[in-house]
Amino acid sequence: MSIVVTGSTGQLGSAVIKYLQERNTGENLIAIARDIDKARDIFNGSDVEIRFGDYDEPATLPNAFEGADKLLLISSPSYDDPLRVVQHANAVKAARDAGVGHIFYTSIAFADESELSLAPLHVATEYAIRTTGIPYTFLRNSLYTDVFVNADLAASVDSGEIITNTGAGKLNTVTRDDLAKGTAAVLAGDGHENQTYNFVSSKTWTFDELADVLSRVSGKDVKHRTVPFAEQVEYLQRVGLPEGMALFSASIYENVANGETSRTSDDLKQFIGEETPLEDFVRKSLNG
Ligand SMILES: NC(=O)c1ccc[n+]([C@@H]2O[C@H](COP(=O)([O-])OP(=O)(O)OC[C@H]3O[C@@H](n4cnc5c(N)ncnc54)[C@H](OP(=O)(O)O)[C@@H]3O)[C@@H](O)[C@H]2O)c1
Repeated sequence: MSIVVTGSTGQLGSAVIKYLQERNTGENLIAIARDIDKARDIFNGSDVEIRFGDYDEPATLPNAFEGADKLLLISSPSYDDPLRVVQHANAVKAARDAGVGHIFYTSIAFADESELSLAPLHVATEYAIRTTGIPYTFLRNSLYTDVFVNADLAASVDSGEIITNTGAGKLNTVTRDDLAKGTAAVLAGDGHENQTYNFVSSKTWTFDELADVLSRVSGKDVKHRTVPFAEQVEYLQRVGLPEGMALFSASIYENVANGETSRTSDDLKQFIGEETPLEDFVRKSLNG
């Protein structure tokens, strides 16, 4: 059984391969990379096969996917969504041409109902995959907890406040590592043809709760202050984000405030058991 993983030099892809290796179930693991040296550094000393493949160079992809019983197509990190649709379509056509047996795709949670600006590109990719007739599994990932909970929170501990425009909005995030574990479990298992899983958390958190957790973990009083959209954009630019990123982040927070990230699911839990508790992840993020 050959499992081919794109985005293998990224944080999610490399972790998926690590979890597949840990399962030690004898699959032939193939890592697709556009930077072969980076892939060699990551998979050095293991029996992972490394092949070149670039979403922007369609001619490289059919050979990269040759012999794949299962292909994990990890979405491109570009911020240009129409370009991402093209990159993914290149990969999907190559999967068809290479005779891939089953395509697994990292989509976005509740894609077809989601108001997140990211949703249309994922819906477009899901439909591109459906056009091939190849069995598929859509792993509709939540926003990563890591996007919100990371070493940058040290600045909130120093200042005593987390500033967002999320109000009392709930987040159903999952750590990238838990998503990788769940993805490896699905890839290594039998079946899952034409299934869609919403890999969101089974319980939500709010920024008020995050402030409480931060206070407990750091021993310093941290409060969450919620501000209007425009003030949030201004604040994010003041702390160093370029305007485009500040607008993107504040619009995600706005989606949170509007309840867009409040739905839960047990889809992931059935594959990984208990998810990483928020407090454990905060502790890890602050202490390195
Ligand atoms: N759910 C969320 O909150 C969230 C957050 C961020 C991203 N994402 C999405 O989830 C994906 C995986 O996350 P991640 O954390 O692993 O991202 P990441 O660390 O940025 O990894 C992205 C991977 O895609 C590869 N890549 C970039 N352009 C490519 C191209 N033209 N052709 C082939 N491969 C290309 C990168 O290769 P190099 O190593 O050569 O750059 C890297 O291996 C991201 O790409 C993005 O679509 C989701």
